[in-house]
Amino acid sequence: MGSSYIVEARHLTLAYKKDEPVIKNISFGVKPKEFVFITGKSGSGKSTLLKSLYAELPVFSGDLRVAGFSLNGIPRDKKNLLRKHIGVIFQDYKLINEWSVEKNVMLPLMIAGYSKEICKAQAHKLLKHVKLLHKAQKFPLELSGGEQQRVAMARALAHNPLLIIADEPTGNLDEYSSSVIWELLKNVRLHVGSTIIVATHKIPQTLGVDYKQYFLNDGVLNEVS
Ligand SMILES: Nc1ncnc2c1ncn2[C@@H]1O[C@H](COP(=O)(O)OP(=O)(O)O)[C@@H](O)[C@H]1O
Ligand SMILES: [Mg+2]
Repeated sequence: MGSSYIVEARHLTLAYKKDEPVIKNISFGVKPKEFVFITGKSGSGKSTLLKSLYAELPVFSGDLRVAGFSLNGIPRDKKNLLRKHIGVIFQDYKLINEWSVEKNVMLPLMIAGYSKEICKAQAHKLLKHVKLLHKAQKFPLELSGGEQQRVAMARALAHNPLLIIADEPTGNLDEYSSSVIWELLKNVRLHVGSTIIVATHKIPQTLGVDYKQYFLNDGVLNEVS
């Protein structure tokens, strides 16, 4: 495998405790702009694998490269650089309740050093994508759960990440919010060229794009064809 992969795992083993591997000697590659689903039942290791991809969990053995960085023993400064290229979404991603929806989405861009005007324009663009521009001045607790998750999604994607990692992003959501989120992921992939890796136990029936599906069974990964 060469550098044409955005994620490249070779004999990757992940563990929280020695002698108790959760991900067991798996090898796979993800190419730029691929849409990848990781499926598998609860406890099979989906979240563990995703955490390793943004260096939240260290490599136990084997090799892992993401966005050109080797994650084996990655130092703190490199980890921060890596994460600039990644957008992460969880099922229960928390917003800052004391801040408006708009400010929540602007925050990562402000931290990245963009001007206030650019941050605001980008936040509005993303809020429009998740159909919440009209709630920009509201506070998170004035929104429904599905709306909050859509704001979290807008925030995670505001910096146009190269790689998007989503862990059961529609797990608790109603059909409308779920469809808004799938549309947003597809749009960002199309316009930004992002690669998307989603753990889910339910692939949407009407995604409308080509995707790759892997099945994780007791820490072993296989492609579903
Ligand atoms: N922080 C942790 N410490 C120890 N074990 C963990 C931790 N997180 C998950 N595990 C264990 O790793 C295995 C896989 O969990 P997880 O990756 O969350 O699976 P999934 O996301 O597929 O439901 C489970 O046996 C779980 O108990
Ligand atoms: Mg999980």
